[in-house]
Amino acid sequence: MRFEDAWALADTVGGWLTEAQGRLLWDSARHLTPGGRIVEIGSHQGRSTVVLGLAAASVGARVTAIDPFVEGAMFGGQSTRAKFEANIAAAGLTGVVDLLPMKSQDALTTWSGDIDLLYIDGKHDYWTVVDDLGWTEHLSLGALTLIHDSFCSVGVTSALLHHVLVRGRLRYLRRETTMAVFDRAAPTGADRKRLMAELPWFSRNVTIKAARRLHATPVLKAMKHDSPYDPY
Ligand SMILES: C[S@@+](CC[C@H](N)C(=O)[O-])C[C@H]1O[C@@H](n2cnc3c(N)ncnc32)[C@H](O)[C@@H]1O
Repeated sequence: MRFEDAWALADTVGGWLTEAQGRLLWDSARHLTPGGRIVEIGSHQGRSTVVLGLAAASVGARVTAIDPFVEGAMFGGQSTRAKFEANIAAAGLTGVVDLLPMKSQDALTTWSGDIDLLYIDGKHDYWTVVDDLGWTEHLSLGALTLIHDSFCSVGVTSALLHHVLVRGRLRYLRRETTMAVFDRAAPTGADRKRLMAELPWFSRNVTIKAARRLHATPVLKAMKHDSPYDPY
């Protein structure tokens, strides 16, 4: 299967993943070998899960999708779980994707086994992201961690700064818009500087988010932000 065919399916599923971000997930998952394990934190209706699942199926890997399906207007609760399950079945991925319908922090307490690709897109506050980064303990050698909403969310970004700059546990490699790629390695000075170099872009994104909430249209125009959404 080509990425274009996978994306045609994933793009029928509601969510926030862009095509370029989907391609980054796809390319990362296609490097796995048979028996490989992907863990996804935050699945919603399954937009990113379908991309990861189809890539996993094509190389003989599997996906564990973790989401408690939180209630509320933003994420939709149990009706979202029904959509997720229908979307996974429609993509032919029922035998490839295992769902853990619980918080990532609870799933981590009983997890054992190596992870070959970790995708984090769950709750975006600082403490939850710090907990989610605890999953990196299970990464196999050379495995990647991809994190959505890096450099547009205060919680996600401050947790990343802590892990890269203070704890020195992750190395920042690159990003596609707000989807950042890390590997598990002690960062050098140059790796740290590469992360710091994203901070002006982070400030821009946070300013846009604030301006949107304040309905500060002239600010948004000056910053050339014409999307009806926050930067992601
Ligand atoms: C931004 S959405 C994920 C979008 C999804 N990756 C996609 O491509 O459409 C965030 C999801 O995180 C879930 N979530 C919230 N708290 C969580 C937690 N503690 N652990 C795992 N997922 C959580 C929400 O229920 C929601 O479905």
